[in-house]
Amino acid sequence: MERLGMALVGCGSALPAASVSNDQLSGRVDTTDAWIRSRTGITARRVASAEESLTVLASRAAAAALAHAGWQPEDVDLILLATSSPDDLFGSAPRVQAAIGASRAVAFDLTAACSGFLFALITASQYLASGSMRRALVIGADQLSRWVDWDDRSTCVLFGDGSGAVAVEACPGEANGLLGFKMRSDGSRNSCLTLAQLNQYEPLLEGLTTQRGGFSPIQMNGQEVYKFAVREVPAILAELLEATATDAAQLDWLLLHQANQRILDAVADRFAVPHERVLSNLAHYGNTSAATIPLMLDEAVKDGRVQSGHLLASSGFGAGLSWGGALLRWTGPQA
Ligand code: COA
Repeated sequence: MERLGMALVGCGSALPAASVSNDQLSGRVDTTDAWIRSRTGITARRVASAEESLTVLASRAAAAALAHAGWQPEDVDLILLATSSPDDLFGSAPRVQAAIGASRAVAFDLTAACSGFLFALITASQYLASGSMRRALVIGADQLSRWVDWDDRSTCVLFGDGSGAVAVEACPGEANGLLGFKMRSDGSRNSCLTLAQLNQYEPLLEGLTTQRGGFSPIQMNGQEVYKFAVREVPAILAELLEATATDAAQLDWLLLHQANQRILDAVADRFAVPHERVLSNLAHYGNTSAATIPLMLDEAVKDGRVQSGHLLASSGFGAGLSWGGALLRWTGPQA
């Protein structure tokens, strides 16, 4: 069967209401606005209340993308929810499916930390390319505020909560919005960034000790993760550009995972992309993990920066370690 393309036809996002500034945080943990701002570019982050569950935020983003694409809920065949902080370890995607009334869609979670949205988008493209599904909602949503140690200043200042979604549909080749992709994992460096099981044990029977479920807060070797990002992201994007015979000068935008402004700047400099063509909103939201890329895309589409036909080089990277790149063309409507 001929393989189809994937058009990006709608987007949406949702954020918690409460914004916590660096100054507010410095009243809680030993840090300063100047330190956070100069090392990361972050000035504030959104933090979800108890009522703003992952399902609530993801459903709001999905419903917005659905409306932007002009679809009915029953048009959707597939919902992929990229998250590392589900409300339920069995998966939160089916609850999103129910919340938006997408009764025909199969819905499941995909976990790849900050690479999750990009990996989910690429995964969805394969179902569409094969002709087995026609329309998908790809959501990136995370609430790492629930999994940081608010007394650990080396991690808690970095993360925020949010959700973004993109509506994609199978299309003929000429309308294709995913022009190429690369994905990588390196589990040998897994310990650099973890949200791992607690070491809690329970003797169950003679000779059998089980482990109790539960997770310890995020642990990170910041310097190693920084070095990983500034080495691997340019390398994978260079491979992607070469594989797609694309010159960096042809790119309208760099749409990178929003972890640290210094990482964004370093990647842009490697490709001589002017900083004004690097999409950035991490000053307001921090690192929202799987949500950063769709959240940023939604903001830039709705405010008119990203226009129909624009070419974007995107990269997600983070825990796993995992990283990937995708060359995208926005094919959907504007605001
Ligand atoms: N406020 C004030 N001081 C802080 C601090 C904070 N929030 N966090 C750490 N420090 C201190 C450290 O204790 C250390 O003090 P010391 O020199 O007295 O020991 C000093 O600042 C330098 O710490 P270091 O970890 O070397 O800082 P850094 O320049 O590497 O910046 C990060 C730290 C986390 C900002 C940086 O490593 C980074 O961005 N890494 C990538 C993280 C990331 O993006 N993770 C997610 C990937 S998806």
